[in-house]
Amino acid sequence: MTSGSTPQPLQGRILSGIQPTGNLHLGNYLGAIRNWVALQKDFECLFCIVDLHAITVWQDPKELSRSTREVAAGMIAAGIDPATNALFVQSHVPAHAELAWVFNCVARLGWLNRMTQFKDKAGKNREAASAGLYVYPNLMAADILVYKATHVPVGEDQKQHLELARDIAQKFNNDYGVELFPLPEPVIRGPGMRVMSLRDGSKKMSKSDPSDFSRLNMTDDADAIAGKVRKATTDPHPLPDSAAGLEGRAEAANLLNIYAALTDRSLDEVIAEQAGTQFSQFKARLTDKAVSVLGPINAEMKRLMDDPAEIDRVLKRGADKANSIAEPVLAEVYKTVGFLPAGR
Ligand code: TYM
Repeated sequence: MTSGSTPQPLQGRILSGIQPTGNLHLGNYLGAIRNWVALQKDFECLFCIVDLHAITVWQDPKELSRSTREVAAGMIAAGIDPATNALFVQSHVPAHAELAWVFNCVARLGWLNRMTQFKDKAGKNREAASAGLYVYPNLMAADILVYKATHVPVGEDQKQHLELARDIAQKFNNDYGVELFPLPEPVIRGPGMRVMSLRDGSKKMSKSDPSDFSRLNMTDDADAIAGKVRKATTDPHPLPDSAAGLEGRAEAANLLNIYAALTDRSLDEVIAEQAGTQFSQFKARLTDKAVSVLGPINAEMKRLMDDPAEIDRVLKRGADKANSIAEPVLAEVYKTVGFLPAGR
């Protein structure tokens, strides 16, 4: 008997999010979006463009609108199927912000004070940071838990936020004596889970780095990719023949990791293959691979961005689906905490 065409039962519900704050980059792709594409056949998936999170730091309104559509285009171009998954904008589903308020009253100040992302983003002048930036992780917990999501695929930088989401779920359940929220499992995997800056191997690749040479953007063309890889920081030695040889060579480790992620292999396999290679040669290989992976995505993004009305239609369908799941969960939460039902 063949079971080839029998659909397998879904393994759970995924929620993940991405900020529309400027360029999508290779870290977003390898650390998150590519994994979402791979997981979409086995899970019920909700992918959210988190505009409410974005405004925790200043955003130019016009640019925010453009960037929100561009992220949607990037996700579709990378292979997210908006017909079978909900692809939507966070502010189109009011239950996120409403549940976040409840979580502001569940999470403890001590928990938020430990969040390293707040410390990094607020910098030295904490007093000038927005209150939204401080409670950012409570909103992120609401994003996940308003769907009772079971799995959350993210890059490694989001690990601490996910631990907080689990703490919030657990405290809510304990305080009210219910089993309302599942404890969501982080899915953090592969050599792309932590892509570092091309200029400094100790800093993560990020949209907010002032140097565009620090990252490969999903909108970069072949020339831009080649130029950035050529300029990437390296050291004078050839590539090592073992992982131990990468000790103290953060930039070499990063480029090898990126190459492993782009070619879908483990770091060890790539080290064995590239042992003894000079950087000039390795960089040419890396460029070819990056162009072959990002080029088609880039072209498709441009095509999709030519029809913003179609992107808006896709996002509306996604929001309708997301609202239909989130609203009953929020109602259950409101009932649990003792809010009266709204009069009819
Ligand atoms: P954001 O927008 O910074 O990044 C989106 C996704 O890309 C991953 N990522 C990286 N992975 C590897 N290397 C890098 N250099 C790199 N940079 C970014 C991130 O880990 C993330 O998976 N707070 C989240 C957005 C969010 C969210 C959520 C995520 C809001 N609500 C609910 C999951 C569930 C953020 O700022 O991601």
